[in-house]
Amino acid sequence: MKKYSYLFLVLFVFINCKNQQAITPTGLVTQKAMVVSAREEASKIGADIMAKGGNAFDAMVGTQLALAVAYPRAGNIGGGGFMVYRKNTGEVGTLDFREKAPLSAHRDMYLDSLGNVIPDMSTKGATSVGVPGSIAGIIEVHKKLGKLSLKDIFEPVIALAENGVKVTEKQAEILKGYRKTFIEVNSDSTKFASVYNAGDVIKYPALAKTLKIIQERGHDGFYKGEIAQKLAAFIQKNGGFVTEEDLARYQAVWRDPVRFNYKDLNIISMAPPSSGGVTMNQIFKMIKPYDLATFGHNSEKTIQVLTEAFRRSYADRNYYLGDPDFVEIPLDYLLKDSYLKQRMSNFSFDKATSSEAVSHGKVEVVESMETTHYSIIDADGNAVSVTTTLNGNFGSKLYCDELGFFLNNEMDDFSSKAGVPNMFGLIGAEANNIQPEKRMLSSMTPTIVEKDGKLWMVVGTPGGSTIITAVAETILNTYEFNLSMQEAVNAPRFHHQWVPDVLIFEPDGFSPELITNLKAKGYQVNIENNTIIGKVDAILVLPNGQLEGGADRRGDDKAVGF
Ligand code: DON
Repeated sequence: MKKYSYLFLVLFVFINCKNQQAITPTGLVTQKAMVVSAREEASKIGADIMAKGGNAFDAMVGTQLALAVAYPRAGNIGGGGFMVYRKNTGEVGTLDFREKAPLSAHRDMYLDSLGNVIPDMSTKGATSVGVPGSIAGIIEVHKKLGKLSLKDIFEPVIALAENGVKVTEKQAEILKGYRKTFIEVNSDSTKFASVYNAGDVIKYPALAKTLKIIQERGHDGFYKGEIAQKLAAFIQKNGGFVTEEDLARYQAVWRDPVRFNYKDLNIISMAPPSSGGVTMNQIFKMIKPYDLATFGHNSEKTIQVLTEAFRRSYADRNYYLGDPDFVEIPLDYLLKDSYLKQRMSNFSFDKATSSEAVSHGKVEVVESMETTHYSIIDADGNAVSVTTTLNGNFGSKLYCDELGFFLNNEMDDFSSKAGVPNMFGLIGAEANNIQPEKRMLSSMTPTIVEKDGKLWMVVGTPGGSTIITAVAETILNTYEFNLSMQEAVNAPRFHHQWVPDVLIFEPDGFSPELITNLKAKGYQVNIENNTIIGKVDAILVLPNGQLEGGADRRGDDKAVGF
């Protein structure tokens, strides 16, 4: 009998330790502080700010600006984003610095007289530009949570812009790919009409000048006075709608995060106008009854459970979510256990659910675009998770040569017409229609995870509609499947978004047998497109308090710390 109780005890400990297995780190490990971002130059500026005595919030300001210099395809001052934070005291919060529709915007502004969506109008050039929020965001973060002076934070970024940034192989390829569009949108005298090769150094004197004005005058340096006048005149001269009044009225907004539990994790993420937190909350509640760890990482059963949860949550996302300042979102209902249980009740391992059975919609294939995410932890244990974007690669492609930055094409994240897909194949409904000063719905999912009440992970990614699923998979890769932070980031990903009813896989890492089995069950699989799903930059707090970075192998991303 004694022998059996011993056996039960061992079994009990084993089962309960399933998620507590020691994970061997494979990414950069540092003792105290770290920044992981899309470019080494930006991670280094953020880490240096913390080494000089700044906190994670000072580093956020520096990293955001440094990405605008070193990573112009997505890093920005002409776009917007979201920050989720957790102070070392456990206090959490979020800042919404998402772009807004200009005052003159209206519901049918991208439709022709027959009610059809006018091609390119919400995606390319000045007509697609929303009122930028990034400078309001960083100044607000600095005012409320920063330690160092703006002067100290801006200095290394201005030096980077003046001294220039080396073009990487990947960047050279992308700049060449977009060169024709830059010329088409801006004329051939624009900075990016030049051909840049890997190894070239690009200097940004106009951006340095703009940054100096903001360094001195803060929020008003961008939203009022010389820059605002020049920016509004430039956008309007090119046919766009943003006015000086739009800029003068822009404010970032502090919002409560979405918080939910998954087993012993407490996940803190972005609330609407981002769909990230709510959709992840639905996904994690729907998958909770299934023992993914036993099914195995990226196994057929795990992929099925996640896909069916993704499918159902995106259907709700597209219908119900929008800017909470404009629409009522039935959050209590959408997040109710009984509702989510009922949503999964028609799922079977034998056969794919058809998206038609979940709801309607016919759309085109998702286009891969660009945004950027960075994760920061400082020596005091404050954590910052920021996703920021111009929407498309280089946003609207409209580059203000005089001020030195690209403008977003975020207006395309609205639903131009109910039922017609945007460039991510996402279809929208009334909740995300266009209204003056409204914020467009986003998928950006900057997230912080606590385990047993302590800071555990900072995570996020670009990837348009694939952001939410990539963040969910990264958390599960470490929590359920014991991958290190770097392995969790590197692991091949898959994605489903309800419509189109297609299960997308990254090219490497999924066996032909698995794909055949899923097809046999009725999943419409796409693995041929060589799609990259997200570029996750994350930090894991190891049991001994050290930090492990996960910098995505898919880009030039880099973890830097001390
Ligand atoms: O806010 C959104 O959901 C989109 N504008 C994000 C765009 C994006 O992630 C593109 N990146 N690959």
